[in-house]
Amino acid sequence: MKPQRLPLPPVPAAALLLLPVALLAALLLVVYPNEFALQASLAGAAACGDHQGGGGGGGVQAAPEFRLLIGVLTLPARYERRHLLRMVYALQQPAVASRARVDVRFVFCRVGSPEDRVLVSLEAMAYGDVVELDCPENMDNGKTHAYFSSVPRLFGGGEAAYDFVMKADDDTFFRLPELAESLSRAPRRDLYYGCMVPCDYVRGSNEYMSGMGYLLSWDLVEWIVAAAAEIEGRTGGPEDRTLYSWLRRGGRGRNRVDVKPAMYNFPGRHPCSHEFIPDTIAVHQLKDNRRWARTLQYFNFTAALKPFYPVI
Ligand SMILES: *[C@@H]1O[C@H](CO)[C@@H](O)[C@H](O)[C@H]1NC(C)=O
Repeated sequence: MKPQRLPLPPVPAAALLLLPVALLAALLLVVYPNEFALQASLAGAAACGDHQGGGGGGGVQAAPEFRLLIGVLTLPARYERRHLLRMVYALQQPAVASRARVDVRFVFCRVGSPEDRVLVSLEAMAYGDVVELDCPENMDNGKTHAYFSSVPRLFGGGEAAYDFVMKADDDTFFRLPELAESLSRAPRRDLYYGCMVPCDYVRGSNEYMSGMGYLLSWDLVEWIVAAAAEIEGRTGGPEDRTLYSWLRRGGRGRNRVDVKPAMYNFPGRHPCSHEFIPDTIAVHQLKDNRRWARTLQYFNFTAALKPFYPVI
């Protein structure tokens, strides 16, 4: 954008092509001023309402019964999966909008590849729903801690931006109406909610909420920030079990809500697998499109769609 003092060359065709892009970018800047930077996208989105709601139509709404952040921990290169998840959650928003505010954000550590940086930025501009955390991309090396401990800073601005904060896998399908129904009955404080594993235990010392998706009440998320010194050095390893070890040591998360068998792994032989059931809250291990399709089909997800091709 530096003004140049050179004689004006003829406008190259490329510049003309770029003009609409520049205008669009300017427009996005105006509409979502806080969401341009990847890192800011989360905080900005919390402040300016959910524009990925899919339905809604901008009607005036009463304050929601509760606010839920779903952070889907994923990897930058999983573009197709994010696309699917965006649709699946946006399409469910109208069914929960009257009672809950549900924000879905895609969370990675630092985006390493220059190529991903450009393409992920495109998503940040278009959807404002990606969050880049200041950690090296990893598995079992502290990403969960980086996520939960960043949430108050990214969203909170000193107060509770959400009642519940979830960490979810990118191969988990949550049914938002069923989740909202279940959460409306859950305690709002000291809450540790999910699918307790191992699934074949009734009680045991090595149990914790499965990483398919679990949530904490906001006070526990703040506690994770406050307890940084105690947690330091204990953020690696199997992260979901590790998180439970912090809670246990800190005497937190005493309101445990285990919704088994409403959350389960895709039908099969894995532990925690279950046949599809009507009261399902979440299905996990949707690792390919075939599984997604079978699951969505069972729940009549697309059944309302009228044929969009001429019927002969
Ligand atoms: C899907 O629709 C069929 C036909 O209306 C119905 O029998 C079935 O119970 C529905 N399934 C679920 C999970 O709601």
